[in-house]
Amino acid sequence: MTKLEQTDKAIYDLIQSEVRREQEGLELIPSENHVSEAILEAQGSVLTNKYAEGLPGKRYYGGCEYVDGVEQLAIDRVKKLFNAPHANVQPHSGAQANTAVYFAVLNPGDTILGMRLDQGGHLTHGSPVSISGKWFKVAAYGVNPQTDLIDYDEVAAMAKETRPKLIIAGASCYSRIIDFEKFRKIADSVGALFMADIAHIAGLIVAGLHPNPFPYAHFVTTTTHKTLRGPRGGVVMCQSEFANAIDKAVFPGLQGGPLMHVIAAKAVAFHEAMQPEFIEYQRNVKANADALAKALKASGCDIVSGGTDNHLLCVDLRPIGLTGKKASDLLQEVGITVNKNSIPNDPEKMFVTSGIRLGSPAITSRGMGVKEMEIIASAIAKTLKNPESEEVKKEVRQAVADLCTKFPLYPDMKAKEVSVR
Ligand SMILES: Cc1ncc(COP(=O)(O)O)c(C=O)c1O
Repeated sequence: MTKLEQTDKAIYDLIQSEVRREQEGLELIPSENHVSEAILEAQGSVLTNKYAEGLPGKRYYGGCEYVDGVEQLAIDRVKKLFNAPHANVQPHSGAQANTAVYFAVLNPGDTILGMRLDQGGHLTHGSPVSISGKWFKVAAYGVNPQTDLIDYDEVAAMAKETRPKLIIAGASCYSRIIDFEKFRKIADSVGALFMADIAHIAGLIVAGLHPNPFPYAHFVTTTTHKTLRGPRGGVVMCQSEFANAIDKAVFPGLQGGPLMHVIAAKAVAFHEAMQPEFIEYQRNVKANADALAKALKASGCDIVSGGTDNHLLCVDLRPIGLTGKKASDLLQEVGITVNKNSIPNDPEKMFVTSGIRLGSPAITSRGMGVKEMEIIASAIAKTLKNPESEEVKKEVRQAVADLCTKFPLYPDMKAKEVSVR
């Protein structure tokens, strides 16, 4: 019996159930991944005990000699990965990283220009329900209705008209290359600062499969848990002239003590991202997303923008006659986890939507390749086209189970049979 099992059976059982859920299902949410056992070990370490307000060598607490080493390694590694002049690895999440940039260089009432949430942007880029939308005047660009691509002329025209102090590039649901150099030129043309949020595509950038926002961006924010395959968390990087403002915005501006166990796990993830296998992994992520998009298209699904250049794709379900909510519920029933997502100019509400967003990072981490993408695409298409058929669901559930057995996840972690499932 483990210590946790002895101490808190309820939490132990729920964790066991989650292990099983991850092992026995296909994770197609593009913002999720399966971290290595080494990352789990670092995150589950005694570093969770340590207070370390401040920065390496400049702490408000004693006993920081070892956590200083941990944080400095994380900083050095992430700077090297992205060719970043400065990095702060303390943001607890991507949202915190973005807010740190806003807190560092904006005042309430300033104007920001970001991508619309319902066209692929993120909540923290100016949505009215986020602090970014409540504190700042928001101008928002979308995608061209014919091509589903960012229209840089439109962004430039909006920037000219609204004179933002900060322009934000980056998205949660955009499957094409983002031209950071063009964004910087637009920012310069109106005297704005430029922030690139690479939360989704960070791993691809490390592998050279998507252009790096450095040297163009003044600020680059990312999460560490998506394509980068690290623990949940955020990082903010910037040009040297903003280093002090960014560090002060993170602490004491927004946060208290850094989560040193998570920073250790981030450092391990950055180390892993420096290995040749990681480049190979990212190549497979991209090839798999492409294969998934092509196979879904061949089986009659409509893909927003016609395909993908990165790790994700968005399926427009209107031709099939399903909503995003219905489709994600159906796929959940057969062991495939996706999320409902708005398509550009979606007639449905955000809670319903007309699309689903699919991504290849997690299934690629299990070792699956192009052949498996074809099996998965066929499983998805069959399920969506036969929503009432129990026969089809049974067949697809079996196909999912076969794939999960063939590509085991955490093989040394034998999930115990527990009462909650
Ligand atoms: C582009 C982008 N930025 C920021 C975030 C926020 O990250 P977190 O959920 O860690 O706060 C996300 C999360 O999905 C994202 O997609």
